[in-house]
Amino acid sequence: MQVARTVEEFRALRAVLPGPVGLVPTMGALHEGHRSLMRRARRECASLTVSIFVNPTQFAPNEDFTRYPRPEADDLSACEAEGVDLVLMPAVEEVYPNGATTTVSVGPLSRILEGASRPGHFDGVATVVSKLLNIGQPDRAYFGQKDAQQLLVIRRMVRDLLFPVEIVGCPIVRDESGLALSSRNVYLSEEECAQALSLSRGLRRAEAAWLGGMRNAPALRSLVHDDIAAQPLARIDYVSLADMETLGECEGRVTRDALLSLAVRFGTTRLIDNTTLRV
Ligand code: PAJ
Repeated sequence: MQVARTVEEFRALRAVLPGPVGLVPTMGALHEGHRSLMRRARRECASLTVSIFVNPTQFAPNEDFTRYPRPEADDLSACEAEGVDLVLMPAVEEVYPNGATTTVSVGPLSRILEGASRPGHFDGVATVVSKLLNIGQPDRAYFGQKDAQQLLVIRRMVRDLLFPVEIVGCPIVRDESGLALSSRNVYLSEEECAQALSLSRGLRRAEAAWLGGMRNAPALRSLVHDDIAAQPLARIDYVSLADMETLGECEGRVTRDALLSLAVRFGTTRLIDNTTLRV
């Protein structure tokens, strides 16, 4: 496995990799969720590349950019264990060269839900992912359904800007209790962790109701909302049931595939989770 710390170095090493080349973009603090993307990419591509870069522009000033975990040695061991060929681990100045002023903005899709709670977040994501695609030149790039809106924003960007890459969405990986794996789970106290189980529990309850024929949007949202709201340490940002493509909120009877998603704060830790309800 080779590790490139500059764009120039990465490009030289990438140029001689056999295709198809897969890229898994990450911010590090790698867990089984990230590793499931790497495994999928490993199976489907002749060469596997991973980027590890905590992107400052997708964090708001009040968010956890500086304290975001950066266990570099563990991350490189995880990549090695998953058979990664080439890792990009650049400094901020490599990705944002002096005076960089160009940003990518995907439009309305990036301003609702996560975008409403985190203004500017998806511009930061779209900008860095377009840079990573330009550096990495992958044939396929792999993203988790865990960040469902991010996946939609990236698919839209790639379509709109004609990036020659296939975007592959991968299922959410959870721990045995149901909690969706996240690099931010390490911030949770034991008590918060126990109460955070209400997130996946609520989603499962709504899935079961959906399979049982419930189609009423407010009722489905309530199934998720009420359990979480009963947890004393939980502060709900949103519980949304929205059209899978436009993310417009569903009203009344749901007749198309829908995304049931939520964001909840425990202290300063913000957790997201979701499930897709298919007609
Ligand atoms: P990060 O949070 O490190 O996640 C990297 C990738 O792993 C994303 O595609 C995310 O959806 C996926 N992932 C995280 N947890 C997962 C889980 N439990 N199951 C399945 N996939 C999971 O998302 C980012 O980084 C950044 O925004 C990035 C795209 C790298 C741009 O900076």
